[in-house]
Amino acid sequence: MKNTLVANNRRIAYQLTGPSEGLLLVLLHGFCEDTSVWDDFIPHLNGLRIVRIDLPGFGESDLPPAPGMEIYADAVLAVLDGLSVKKCVLVGHSMGGYTALAFAEKHPERLAGLGLFHSHPFEDTPEGIANRRRGIEMLQSGKRDLYVAQLFPSLFPPAFVKAHPEVINALIDTGKRQSAEGIVAALEGMIARQNHENTLRSSTCPVQFLSGSEDAIASPERVMQAAVLPAIADAHVLSGVGHMGMLEAAEKTAGIVRRFWEFCAQR
Ligand code: MLT
Repeated sequence: MKNTLVANNRRIAYQLTGPSEGLLLVLLHGFCEDTSVWDDFIPHLNGLRIVRIDLPGFGESDLPPAPGMEIYADAVLAVLDGLSVKKCVLVGHSMGGYTALAFAEKHPERLAGLGLFHSHPFEDTPEGIANRRRGIEMLQSGKRDLYVAQLFPSLFPPAFVKAHPEVINALIDTGKRQSAEGIVAALEGMIARQNHENTLRSSTCPVQFLSGSEDAIASPERVMQAAVLPAIADAHVLSGVGHMGMLEAAEKTAGIVRRFWEFCAQR
């Protein structure tokens, strides 16, 4: 069951698990997903107080008032304020990481740690923007199901897709539950997003970076280029893993996040 709160007349859905005390770990999903993407990851984080948020336009959250990672960051702030949480460890997967960076720029004092889980601070390339625009055309011409069916297999190494069709199919089903409007807003928001290298340079909290050797979106090269920017960084590249470590290597990636959370909690 999800909880909801209303901010600026829009509903934001989130899921709380774990004890009622302790440093809060916030998990943000990526593009075309919702809180369910963390379902197999959470059991490996037993004992931690965790909130997962449906970013606006995904899951059970209302559409955003306008596209933008800053709008998603406002939803994160609303949930933290709603829970009276002063500081958290904020971990975002891919687009969730872009959101976490937008949050870090605006509210650094609310972060005990920032995690870029298969994510990076760089803006879109011209080719990336052209791809997203083609996606917007598809979605606006009623081809949402085809769009998500093509998207998810491309996030994994081909061998994983072959060995685990049930994982890919479950994600495609999740994608088909998202509204075309929410997906289009996310694409527009990602096109417009700014470079956050300076946000990382000025970060006063530790920053964790995680990539997979087969990750085509947050490639190890891009992630390592970013990992030298913050004063305190913890960086991991997982061999044989693509863009979806929480599903491809749940125990291992959860262990990495847990150790980061412990480090942030002890500072
Ligand atoms: C995601 O998983 O959130 C997306 O792949 C991010 C992106 O397209 O840049």
